[in-house]
Formats: sequence, structure tokens, C-alpha cells
Amino acid sequence: SGKFFVGGNWKCNGTKDSISKLVSELNAATLETDVDVVVAPPFIYIDQVKNSLTGRIEVSAQNVWIGKGGAYTGEISAEQLVDIGVQWVILGHSERRHIIGEDDEFIGKKAAYALSQNVKLIACIGELLEEREAGKTFDVCFKQMKAFADSISNWADVVIAYEPVWAIGTGKVATPEQAQEVHAAVRDWLKTNVSPEVASSTRIIYGGSVNAANCAELAKKEDIDGFLVGGASLKAPDFATIVNSVT
Ligand code: 13P
Repeated sequence: SGKFFVGGNWKCNGTKDSISKLVSELNAATLETDVDVVVAPPFIYIDQVKNSLTGRIEVSAQNVWIGKGGAYTGEISAEQLVDIGVQWVILGHSERRHIIGEDDEFIGKKAAYALSQNVKLIACIGELLEEREAGKTFDVCFKQMKAFADSISNWADVVIAYEPVWAIGTGKVATPEQAQEVHAAVRDWLKTNVSPEVASSTRIIYGGSVNAANCAELAKKEDIDGFLVGGASLKAPDFATIVNSVT
């Protein structure tokens, strides 16, 4: 449901030179037109990327401060993202939840403030391996969904990314059936807890070891509306193949 959406999360990777090369290759790639494409460079390279992208690829931040800017050393505000033309922010990523220690309440504040400044969200959810093994996948995902939903009024500005933590950066991609099962459950959660309209119009994308070889099978699944790609988004030909896996 909704237009296919593919995001490239570059995480804390790249140099001026490697990013310049990656952007040139993305500019030269042939991308299906019926796909929303967004890349998320590290903050310090965003302006470089914005100024060198020639096509219709949009730019996302990987993080944002919880409110208006001011005396918050090391932070970047939503107003500053808007100032340099950044349309999106990734929030709730597992690396920020589990390595940096962000909790649902903190992520919810960021979501509400970013949306209030018209920055759109790639809202990430996903369970740890031990949570999946304990049969808690849906409980964990629904709790994370509720924290986002409590902060969201305009769902048109939100894409949900299901990223099982055990699949991120591990080469252990979820099977199409495993991903589809959670995507369908999240859509059902939206139907019950938000509205049937939001459930059918909101993109639910999959992330976790997506690559050029496994994207096509995943993209066929009814409730998989695109991808959030880490490692493979650093290689332009692979990222283009993933964008072009739209069915
Ligand atoms: P990988 O594609 O490297 O597994 O990373 C996925 C991810 O975390 C995207 O946000």
C-alpha cells in the first residue's frame, strides 16, 4: 500500500571522497520512477550530499534533538534540518535504542517535535533475538508502535520501518514470510489503534540485511512496501537494484 519507499541508511560511514563518489554513482543510476528514494548521510556530509544530488533522491537525517535548539551541546535541531533542506529523519533505530540507550519516551518526544516542524519520519521498530525466541515479537513491536502513535497526528508524514535487531548488519535477513507476518500484524495494529485509512495508506518497509540478491523475494510480499537498507546502500549498483525491486 502506498508508493514503494527505499531508504539508504549510511550510518556512521563515509568520507568526503567516498561520499562524493557514491553520490556521482547514484546520480548516474537508473531508478524506477514509481519509488520514493531517500538517503541518510551522517550529519556533517548532509549539505555536501544535498548540493551534489542531481535527481529526485531526498535526504534524511539519522537523528534529531527532542525540541527547539539552544544550549544542547552536540545536538542538531529540526529547525536546522529544515534550514538546509532535509525532509526526513530516522527515529527509533535499534542502534540508537540499544547502543545509545534511547527509550520510547525520548523517541516519542523527538517524533512529535520533528513532525511539528514538518520533518517526516522513518519510524523504526523491531525485536531483539531473545525477544523473538521468547515469543514476544508482536508485544515489543506494538509497544514501540504505541509510543510513536501517541506522538503522531499526521500519518501522511510517517513511514514505519520494521527492522528485527537480529537481522541488522548480520547477513541474517528475515525470510519473506517472517517479515510479512510482522508487517501484517503492524498494519492490523494500525487499523485497530489508529484507523483503517491509516492502516492501508501507511508504508511499512523492511530493514535488516537487505541486499541486491534477496530484495526481490521480499518485495513480492503484500505488506512489504519498501526497504531501509544499511550496508548495501553504500554500493550504488546494489542500492539501485533494491530500489528497482518494486513490484
Ligand atoms: P543492514 O542493511 O546493514 O543490515 O542495516 C539495516 C539497517 O539498520 C537500516 O537502518
